[in-house]
Amino acid sequence: MADGAKVRTVADLMSKEVLTVAPTDTVASACALMLERGVGSTVVLHDDRPVGILTERDLVRITADGADLATAMVSQWMTADPDSVPSNAPVNDAFVSLRQHGYRHFPVVDGGRLVGMVSLRDLLKLAPILQIEDPGLPESRRGLEGVMVAETAVGDVRGTEGFYHYRQYNATELAEKRSMEDVWHLLYEGHLPDRAEREAFTAEIASLRQIPSAVKELLPAIANAGETFVPLDALRSAYSTLVTSVGFRSWMDIDRATLRENAMRTSAVMPTLIMALYRLSQGKDPIDPHPDLSYAANYLYMLTGEVPDPGHARAIEQYLISTTDHGFNSSTFTARVITSTGADLGSAVVGAIGALSGPLHGGAPSRALDMLDAIGTPDQADAWIRQHVLAGEKIMGFGHRIYKTDDPRSVMLRGVAERLGGPMVDFAKQVEKTVVAVLAELKPGRQLYANVEFYAGVVMDNVGLPRTLFTPTFTSSRVIGWTSHVLEQAADNRLIRPSAHYDGPPPPVPVPDPV
Ligand SMILES: CC(C)(COP(=O)(O)OP(=O)(O)OC[C@H]1O[C@@H](n2cnc3c(N)ncnc32)[C@H](O)[C@@H]1OP(=O)(O)O)[C@@H](O)C(=O)NCCC(=O)NCCS
Repeated sequence: MADGAKVRTVADLMSKEVLTVAPTDTVASACALMLERGVGSTVVLHDDRPVGILTERDLVRITADGADLATAMVSQWMTADPDSVPSNAPVNDAFVSLRQHGYRHFPVVDGGRLVGMVSLRDLLKLAPILQIEDPGLPESRRGLEGVMVAETAVGDVRGTEGFYHYRQYNATELAEKRSMEDVWHLLYEGHLPDRAEREAFTAEIASLRQIPSAVKELLPAIANAGETFVPLDALRSAYSTLVTSVGFRSWMDIDRATLRENAMRTSAVMPTLIMALYRLSQGKDPIDPHPDLSYAANYLYMLTGEVPDPGHARAIEQYLISTTDHGFNSSTFTARVITSTGADLGSAVVGAIGALSGPLHGGAPSRALDMLDAIGTPDQADAWIRQHVLAGEKIMGFGHRIYKTDDPRSVMLRGVAERLGGPMVDFAKQVEKTVVAVLAELKPGRQLYANVEFYAGVVMDNVGLPRTLFTPTFTSSRVIGWTSHVLEQAADNRLIRPSAHYDGPPPPVPVPDPV
């Protein structure tokens, strides 16, 4: 039992500095002492033993009687042989006893000697608060694993089946057959667009890609503010500035159409911000978005200023589609929590960017590629992986909270990587096999397979994206998922405010005086 458990006895609550008087003292002098000490009672001691108690009520009686306080003696007016409690009495018992007797104070007496005083006020502070002697088994699920926290019609992930979907469609099938704009429309509007809807939606996106000039002017300072360029830090600062400049407001203060416009603008401008910041960090000027290029082709265009190879544009588009949404992942949950407070859409997206930046979520693809570099050649894979797993490290790009079988995104991206070709792809496939085998041996039963990040790195590298841009590229698609969830949360909101299982020392412990 933790230290705080003993708080429940009178000893921990009582005041030890008790005001005492003698039976032969005058009531006036006792009164003066009580006033000076700011207390409502005094214990009457004779030969160090408590023989009575004089309280405010007694003083009222004396005054009503018209007695002369200067001559009246304490012994005449005190309550003799007062009830008392021992210091080891449980707080609740002392509380009940005081209430039953109608007293406000109890002298605390051990072995006939006065050791303290306890008041109803002291006891009231603690008695109604139940002490949990045994906190029992934790009621929380660590990491909220498997806990349902909301209703959603955006999509879902089925870990054991290796399947995930956007609305009612298989997400990897969407990535095979549809454009990013179509999937975006599906998530925002609830259905895949027809031709006319597609044209209108694509034109709307193109019109919102530009960075407002007031924000553009600040980008060089944001991109070069730190000694090293940390792309997601720069992105959330730049995006936050844009939110201020455009004037996003609490979704509770705007209509649905304005909130949707905030979402469209956010998702449309994110790639422009990413590429502008990256180029500025390299000492280059940003490239304006190309009005006639698709979302994915424009993304690569803003990196180099050249219209990209269609195969490359399609590969990155498939990556972007496959990473747009993925159940209640940490960043999406973050966005929904922030939205549930009524905050503006910009706050939700800034929070989500922060959550995505961690290596356990979105920060892994460049690390997976760094691992391939470190392994060097296929024959060294087994030893390298073994050594790192045995050292307690995680192999980047492997394992998943939900998937306990092949991650369908990794399977699809492996196909995309194979289509692109190149020496890195064969090497990555060999390393994947080795990692899965070594993890099955060293971490039996954990069901660890390649996750989306492993082949994502290979695909992005193949189309010419620098490693610094891997996580930002993930952000550029996931922002569409985040904002879909913001729209959904705002449409049917309840504040998300869970509880936690407290397992520290049992409260309340009296706050000690400063030393
Ligand atoms: C994604 C991830 C955070 C999921 O974590 P999780 O659901 O909390 O699972 P845990 O971290 O509790 O892992 C369960 C067990 O598998 C092991 N494990 C999980 N992923 C592993 C990996 N990539 N390499 C080695 N061991 C791994 C853990 O060490 C743990 O072993 P233990 O039972 O001996 O303690 C985790 O797999 C990971 O850190 N992967 C590497 C980072 C990565 O690829 N991130 C991108 C995710 S899309």
